[in-house]
Amino acid sequence: MITVDNQQLSGLLEQMTLEEKIAQMLQLVASYFVGSEDDGQITGPMESLGITEETVNQAGSILGLGGAAKVIQVQQDHLKNDRLGIPMIFMADIVHGYKTIFPIPLAIGCSWDQELAEQSAAIAAKESAVSGLHVTFAPMVDLVRDPRWGRVMESTGEDPYLNSLFARAFVRGFQGEDLTNDVSRVAACVKHFAAYGAGEGGREYNTVDLSERQLREYYLPAYKAALDEGCELVMTSFNTVHGSPATGNRTLMRDLLRAELGFDGVLISDWGAVIELIAHGVAEDESAAAYLAVQAGVDIEMMTSCYVKHLPELVRSGKVEESLIDEAVLRILNLKNKLGLFDNPLRGADPEAERAIVFCDEHRSVSRELASQSCVLLKNTGVLPLQAEQRIALIGPFAQSKDILGSWSWMGAEEDIMTLDTAIQAKAKITSSNVLVAEGSGIDSITETQWKEALDVARQADVIVLAVGESSHMSGEGGSRADIRLPEAQLQLMDHLRTLDKPIVTVVFNGRPLDLQGIHDQADAVLEAWFPGSEGATAITDILYGEVNPSGRLSMSFPHAVGQVPVYYNHFNTGRPQKESEPDNRYSSKYLDIPNEPLFPFGYGLSYTEFKYGEIALSAEGITTDRPLQVTTTITNTGDTAGVEVVQLYIRDITGEVVRPMKELKAFSKVLLQPGESKEVSFTVTEEQLRYHHSDLSYTSDTGEFAVFVGANSRDVSERRFRLLK
Ligand code: NOJ
Repeated sequence: MITVDNQQLSGLLEQMTLEEKIAQMLQLVASYFVGSEDDGQITGPMESLGITEETVNQAGSILGLGGAAKVIQVQQDHLKNDRLGIPMIFMADIVHGYKTIFPIPLAIGCSWDQELAEQSAAIAAKESAVSGLHVTFAPMVDLVRDPRWGRVMESTGEDPYLNSLFARAFVRGFQGEDLTNDVSRVAACVKHFAAYGAGEGGREYNTVDLSERQLREYYLPAYKAALDEGCELVMTSFNTVHGSPATGNRTLMRDLLRAELGFDGVLISDWGAVIELIAHGVAEDESAAAYLAVQAGVDIEMMTSCYVKHLPELVRSGKVEESLIDEAVLRILNLKNKLGLFDNPLRGADPEAERAIVFCDEHRSVSRELASQSCVLLKNTGVLPLQAEQRIALIGPFAQSKDILGSWSWMGAEEDIMTLDTAIQAKAKITSSNVLVAEGSGIDSITETQWKEALDVARQADVIVLAVGESSHMSGEGGSRADIRLPEAQLQLMDHLRTLDKPIVTVVFNGRPLDLQGIHDQADAVLEAWFPGSEGATAITDILYGEVNPSGRLSMSFPHAVGQVPVYYNHFNTGRPQKESEPDNRYSSKYLDIPNEPLFPFGYGLSYTEFKYGEIALSAEGITTDRPLQVTTTITNTGDTAGVEVVQLYIRDITGEVVRPMKELKAFSKVLLQPGESKEVSFTVTEEQLRYHHSDLSYTSDTGEFAVFVGANSRDVSERRFRLLK
């Protein structure tokens, strides 16, 4: 693709009227361009935004339109109407796949597999790009600790290090190495800056109030990682940061994001976040909202019209410098240039190639692979894997459900989804087992006929496979829940089935860590399947029948009960920790009714085989800046099935200048071991990994004692000590 130089871009800017410039800063959904049947998200007609058709004709970008033919049409119409022939950018939420839907990001987090994550993003980019898209609103890298928040499904979890690795992998996958010339890639937009995941009470869009250190230690690393990887755009978050809504927060955007983190790409508001500055109570009216957002350096206003209606007047009256507008528009033009749109406004859009590429077998097989790596086996008394000759009763609202893609899968089509019963029956033909199916209950309703039929079916079987969960609407944006147990109807179904005294394998579909009371204690096996995507049913079946040995490990803790949240592994100690020797000491930090520890900790997941960890060997007792530490151990597969273990290394700074977390993940390794095989796993710990933000926010390390832990998850570890010397 041929790009123009900066001088030419400035020349173009000079030719633009103030109104034309400001229109570049407007983003609208597709229905403003192609009529409402093409868009599910329309918020109102043009008049309700108070804008004219002329403004719409000059808009800089469009949201949520996919399909090469449509995109080509809209771009061509736009170019006819735009005086200077400036192409629009087509953006959309391609969060975990375009039409080939991958597992939800929280599930991808549980794969601990950056290569597969990158591959999934590259495929999502390829399908999006050939369908006409230029930018995806992903990755979402908000650190999450509160499973009540529905959007935890969009994050890779609770750990800053793991999230940062995935942030980089997704950005690499979306953007590739040469965004301009590789038209099968799209620009990435990291979101939601900043700390959107820390909303109080897990309630959507709620207030965030964090200390500067919390922000820097936990929440910022993953955004920074995405930016370091070259992510082209950033989206503002809906919440407050240090008392000021992010979208109008100059300190956050200008001082931290731009000056400190060095971001010079396009900053886009989240949907309606500019006008929402009024409801937040920091802007009196739309004009004041536009003023705050533009001062903060927000380049594009998504879906409201504060900019186009008020910036012209604000500039003409001298309240806003025109240079602020120019700076924003140049960034937008720059992005268009980088995408090669001045050379070819249609970029990768190609209706014929689209038919061949989108949802092709090759893409689907990667989705299947990722789904099988993302499922987490939480419990198994030995009933899994299923045996070929067993008769199976497949029961539950997810036995025949197509609602397994999860939120943010708007291009995923029902007709492309195989249900669990079909996948198991296909396998049953091969394995000659009998499969009987009953719904048992709905998601949140149960009738006597349903559970009685389920019991009849179950009586004829050797094993019950109970497929339960949340519908996809129960998580995702606007999907906060205060009670994160399975709906009562499904718990009742479990109770009925338990009366039969048959082994029960529970497969759980959901977008968040659940409170699994009533399930994990009654089931003989629990497989966390998340929303596994287009190929999920086959992937789950592979695991149930032992063709794939599960290797997923939780990237977010599962609480004992909702009253425990937020519960996360990298927490601080207290002055009065509960001691094993005095568990009932009233004046220790604990609950009277539940344990402090989560039900399933970060990093946890079972396999069909067993792994034995050897002693931890250290290369030295002390390390320095120049002399890192080698931490080595030997892992043995002591079972009779090949399996993958995720060997995890955590660090604790025993005495810090400020309080340090009990454990922090610093490294891990996915190791494949054949039955009886042993492998040595070695990690390098450097001084850099021991740094943290001190009370003056300087990022340095402390000399002194550290603990290093190696193990299968954040709880089950062995410990050694070493010292940092300087
Ligand atoms: C609102 C969501 O918060 C954001 O993540 C998404 O990208 C936009 N809507 C656009 O759909």
